[in-house]
Amino acid sequence: MQDLLELAKKKLDAKGYLDVDVDPTIELEEEITRLKKEKNMILLAHYYQESEIQDLADYVGDSLQLAQKAAETDADIIVFAGVHFMAETAKILNPQKKVLLPDLKAGCSLAESCPAPIFKKFKEKHPDHVVVSYINCTAALKTMTDIVCTSSNAKYVIDSIPEDTPIIFAPDKNLGAYLQKETGREMILWNGSCMVHEIFSHEKIVKLKLRHPDAKFIAHPECEPHLLEIADYIGSTSGLLRYTQESDATEFIVATEAGILHQMQKKSPDKTFIPAPPNNMCACNDCPHMKLNTLEKLYLCMEHELPEIHIDEAIIERAKLPIDRMMEISKKAGL
Ligand code: 13P
Ligand code: SF4
Repeated sequence: MQDLLELAKKKLDAKGYLDVDVDPTIELEEEITRLKKEKNMILLAHYYQESEIQDLADYVGDSLQLAQKAAETDADIIVFAGVHFMAETAKILNPQKKVLLPDLKAGCSLAESCPAPIFKKFKEKHPDHVVVSYINCTAALKTMTDIVCTSSNAKYVIDSIPEDTPIIFAPDKNLGAYLQKETGREMILWNGSCMVHEIFSHEKIVKLKLRHPDAKFIAHPECEPHLLEIADYIGSTSGLLRYTQESDATEFIVATEAGILHQMQKKSPDKTFIPAPPNNMCACNDCPHMKLNTLEKLYLCMEHELPEIHIDEAIIERAKLPIDRMMEISKKAGL
């Protein structure tokens, strides 16, 4: 077993996770709970994680809430059940702490759509522009950013920039277009998008709405503009969850990653939640990156404290500035 573990550690970079067999007789939930306590670990989970992971987490939240929890924790180790850019943000906010991610290959199509060297050249063509980057981007991109935002604070971030200052918004063109409409600000948009939020079928949603006339159609702003136009409510994952709790409606068609339905159902057990249908027959509204994290990988990562997030000190120093600005704006806005 020891030899296999050593071999798995050597292959960690290529695999992205510790590829060793877990004893099928152990109770993973119990082990994970024990490890959290013994090692003073905090387990943070995004709403898009599988339900078993959400139920074990110390905190389940949206991108902003998880960054805020990471910033204020006094735990020794942060275990991030989410994707790479989220764990990276936690590390930037806590350079002295160990930050673990069950699978380093849990990436993000938005972060991939905006490689830092290409963005650098693009930015050089617009030297007078302020750069606002969606948190769904790499640490390298954050070093070229003036203010980071998430979908829950983006309007406040844009509003904090003087009217006469031109803005580049990267990497999500859908969130960017939504913000242009909401704030009335013209922005140069990077041409990136989320593979999960672009899969929903307008035609099938319209038909579903006809079959469920009382259902509210709610959507994440990463969805395409033609879908947002027909939405009853648009918001971040935490915004969508709040809306389903506060609304008098009892049926909701939900256009975001399907993991959020677990919390919606938990908070409102008597309401009905219908995942918005994708363009084809597959379960494409599951994020393939988010779903790389499994209970087994989570257990292995907590037991062996691997894989760990490492970021160059100089990158941390520069990438922290736009994140701190975002945190400040969120605090002022009461978020
Ligand atoms: P929020 O949880 O901030 O709404 O972001 C959604 C998302 O796509 C995370 O990857
Ligand atoms: Fe990235 Fe989209 Fe997955 Fe969120 S749901 S991690 S934006 S690919």
